Amino acid sequence: MNKTDFLVIGSGVAGLRAALELARGGRVIVLTKDRIDESNTEYAQGGVAVALSDDDEIALHVEDTLNAGAGLCDEKAVIVLVEEGPRYIRELIEWGTEFDREGGELAFTREAAHSRRRILHAHGDSTGREIVRALLDRAKKDPNITFLAHAATLGLLVEDGRCIGVEYLDPNESLKREMRAKAVVLATGGAGQVYAQTTNPEVATGDGMAMAYTAGATVCDLEFVQFHPTVLAAPGAPRFLLTEALRGEGGRLRNDSGEAFMKQYDDREELAPRDIVSRSIVTEMTRTGRQWVYLDLTHLDANYLRRRFPKIHLTCLRYGLDITKDQLPVSPAAHYIMGGVRTDTLGRTTLAGLYAAGEVACTGVHGANRLASNSLLEGLVFGARAGAAALNETDGFPPGVEREPKPVDISPPDWMFDPQTRYRVQELMWQKVGLIRQGAELKTALDELTHLASQALNTRTHNFTTLARLITEAALWREESRGGHYRVDFPKRDDEKWRVHSAQQLNQPIKAVEQIGGG
Ligand code: FAD
Ligand code: SIN
Repeated sequence: MNKTDFLVIGSGVAGLRAALELARGGRVIVLTKDRIDESNTEYAQGGVAVALSDDDEIALHVEDTLNAGAGLCDEKAVIVLVEEGPRYIRELIEWGTEFDREGGELAFTREAAHSRRRILHAHGDSTGREIVRALLDRAKKDPNITFLAHAATLGLLVEDGRCIGVEYLDPNESLKREMRAKAVVLATGGAGQVYAQTTNPEVATGDGMAMAYTAGATVCDLEFVQFHPTVLAAPGAPRFLLTEALRGEGGRLRNDSGEAFMKQYDDREELAPRDIVSRSIVTEMTRTGRQWVYLDLTHLDANYLRRRFPKIHLTCLRYGLDITKDQLPVSPAAHYIMGGVRTDTLGRTTLAGLYAAGEVACTGVHGANRLASNSLLEGLVFGARAGAAALNETDGFPPGVEREPKPVDISPPDWMFDPQTRYRVQELMWQKVGLIRQGAELKTALDELTHLASQALNTRTHNFTTLARLITEAALWREESRGGHYRVDFPKRDDEKWRVHSAQQLNQPIKAVEQIGGG
């Protein structure tokens, strides 16, 4: 265990796919902070978008992705994603992934802002779990891949301007260890947990973005956060996602008076882009003084609903709601972050030796707003590309060697969050850096987050507060509204001044860059 060629941090779709690529040429250790199968990927419901159906075209998927991205997508990255997508999906099927079929043919569903039915799904609404199962089966059989679970990475090691490994917590011995490698692939996923209301599991605290920033890499577009419109809001129930595919199959949003209100807000009604649907819901909630609106599926065929959405059906039943009979209380919650560690289309960050893929990365593929179901595809395509680049570019390098372990500070526990700070950050971010933002509120939040970051007691809390501060700083900087970023004090999109990306680097003021790719 004390010597390896490559380190992959995270075991979601991007990390697993990167590990399989790297294992073709060396020994790989995958460090992951919870169980191996715990990740955002595991909970993905709707499916994976891919231009594979008979009536679909690469050009249409590219166009839909660019439209959703609200003028900020890096077109080169989008073309890579959409053109290479079918190849990686076919490979996934060869590796045993069982996507749902009708009459033997792959079944495609529809989600918001897609001009075609192009979403593949598995076991109805458990797509992510099936993808993880297939990738894990393969990775576990690969003699070059070793998993180390419950091993939280705390920071990146940098020597002479190159990332040479990581510092992590040994789960068994309560030791802080340094693991060195020829290259590190960050695949730590998203950051929904910085918000009080989120669809993301506990592990999604944005560590990778904060660690990369602290190590000197550039992070981009962090102001763009996607809020999912339809998250279960029943009292006592967890913030469980009710997939967009439910609206794709005909689900309607209704207010307290039973009125299907989306037509007042957008011609595309329930299938308008997520940011529009989410803000419309908040407007209705404010107007009616209620904590939620309703998702109504009761007009759809009950047998079909039970068969197509089995997990959602069973989960709602647990909280006293039958999706075939009851209107489901829903409200928006933080779901996905478009920004992240700046990478080119090979997954190379601006720090030598450090690669990133999946939700932690920002290739520019999503621009200001991600098209639904493009992120599982992103994890596959860019996970493989980052793995391949790390392998090729370190050919001939000696393997990394593990250093002598250091005992962990025990007061305060270095591996635990300071719960008070964590809670305060989540509330601040939800109240002041959420779906609807305003300059003075952002400034107040930024001041408090800067203070909290400077006071953070240990690495984990510091990473968390640092990322929240960076998101807030970027949101304050962008004086316009676009995609996932909405400012009441600057409600219009301003292409003349703001068709640029935010870029943040340690000890430097935030700045605008024209393009993400190219390093
Ligand atoms: P993740 O899958 O989140 O994996 C991150 C990994 O990094 C985890 O293993 C985690 O434990 C590990 N990690 C984190 N920090 C550390 C650390 N410090 N040290 C060590 N390990 C660490 N997208 C779609 O395309 N289609 C969908 O239908 C869809 N549905 C979704 C439903 C839900 C409820 C959610 C939350 C997201 C959904 N998304 C969907 C988004 C998509 O699931 C994610 O963007 C994608 O799975 C991210 O993959 P990833 O590999 O980048 O990260
Ligand atoms: C969903 O199923 O609604 C989520 C899809 C996504 O986030 O891409």
